[in-house]
Amino acid sequence: MNVCIVGAGYVGLSTAVGFAEHGHRIACIDIDQKRINDINSGICPIFEPGMEEALKRSIGKGLLKATPDLKAAIASSDVIFISVPTPCDENGKMNTRFIDRASKDIASLLDGYKVIVVKSTVLPGATETIVKGNLEATGKIYGRDFGLCMNPEFLREGHALEDFLKPDRIVIGSSDKKAGDVVEKLYNGFSAPILRTGIKTAEMIKYASNSFLATKITFANEMGNICKLLGIDVYKVMEGVGMDRRINPHFLRAGCGFGGSCFVKDVSALLNKGRELGHEPRLLDAVLKVNAEQRKRMVHQLKARTELKGRRIAVLGLAFNPDTDDVRESAAIDTVQGLLEHGASVVVYDPKAMDNFRRLFPNLIYSESAKEALKDADACIIATDWDEFRKLDSKDFSGMKGNIIIEGRRTLDKSKVPHVDGVCW
Ligand code: UGA
Repeated sequence: MNVCIVGAGYVGLSTAVGFAEHGHRIACIDIDQKRINDINSGICPIFEPGMEEALKRSIGKGLLKATPDLKAAIASSDVIFISVPTPCDENGKMNTRFIDRASKDIASLLDGYKVIVVKSTVLPGATETIVKGNLEATGKIYGRDFGLCMNPEFLREGHALEDFLKPDRIVIGSSDKKAGDVVEKLYNGFSAPILRTGIKTAEMIKYASNSFLATKITFANEMGNICKLLGIDVYKVMEGVGMDRRINPHFLRAGCGFGGSCFVKDVSALLNKGRELGHEPRLLDAVLKVNAEQRKRMVHQLKARTELKGRRIAVLGLAFNPDTDDVRESAAIDTVQGLLEHGASVVVYDPKAMDNFRRLFPNLIYSESAKEALKDADACIIATDWDEFRKLDSKDFSGMKGNIIIEGRRTLDKSKVPHVDGVCW
């Protein structure tokens, strides 16, 4: 099928490359000309394992191209995906300006029946009020001139392509069978159960999933904080808990709190939506509060053990997850901020995320390797569990002046680095 994808961010690009792997012809639309040029030259604008190879493959087969020409892309497509960001405003509410703009642009250029699919994460009701509303405002008739679906994404950064190609489930929300059938056909060949729902239900499945995962992690963190005081290893506890099929072992890794562009944003948006509707979502509120505290724990822990003023502290890991260069809502941000506030001098290293972090903190000392960052450091904090850090042993830390190592993710092998102290283990 011919597919147009509006927004070539990590979701749009993973969707584009993933569908191209299944033989569909994809036009990626973006407003950033550099991004368009990069994609067409086979350069992946985000770091995501396997993505650049897959992108090159799709381009080589003539199945994928990026273009700013929305009109031509719409004219040659059967399905148009909207995968633009839905960021959080200062007040924690969903900002719909990009989806509003994208759907207005599509509405003004639509020529004949096409199925519009919202892939962006939007609160229940938004697909119909904003996207359908903008299409109808140009005189288009629903069901005759366009079909509408909501198809949420469940991709983890660092595993985005793998998650796209091997999903646990595919959710297709539609209010007319014809449009839903077109999207279902697009997923022919994927070996995952397909759940057909209404549009609002599909929108809510996405928020409920992210809220549940964020809650699950927060629960593990809370258990970890108690376990640490009791001298119990929370990882063993969660191994035992996760063996219960009703719970499952995933997303129970305790640590320095969840980060990334989605969990905080989506839980905040749902919390605010609940409040708007007159319901106080106490659980979601607690999840965000506990998480915000958790992200500050490593600095509190370090401060309890040493003076920070004037000390050189190495922070290893700046990305919010390993295998990504994304630093949005990363625990390293709170950590570095806290260290600077206490007057420490901060030296950092990350295998992929240094450029993105430098935009937020231009004045830190950026090292070329973990070893260089550790040299003469009074203490070290590990905020991301990159594989590269898993391999570190005592001699890698031997250049440090002090001997305090605090890890926010279970990264180091305690048999090789005995004095490592976990954030909640
Ligand atoms: C998350 C969801 O996992 C995806 O299903 C969803 O599609 C995506 O948000 C989205 O809405 O776009 P993502 O934020 O990219 O994906 O990455 P995750 O792997 O879920 O990690 C989020 C944070 O949780 C990271 O900081 C990670 O370190 C933390 N985490 C994860 C834990 O602290 N413990 C765990 O057991 C798992």
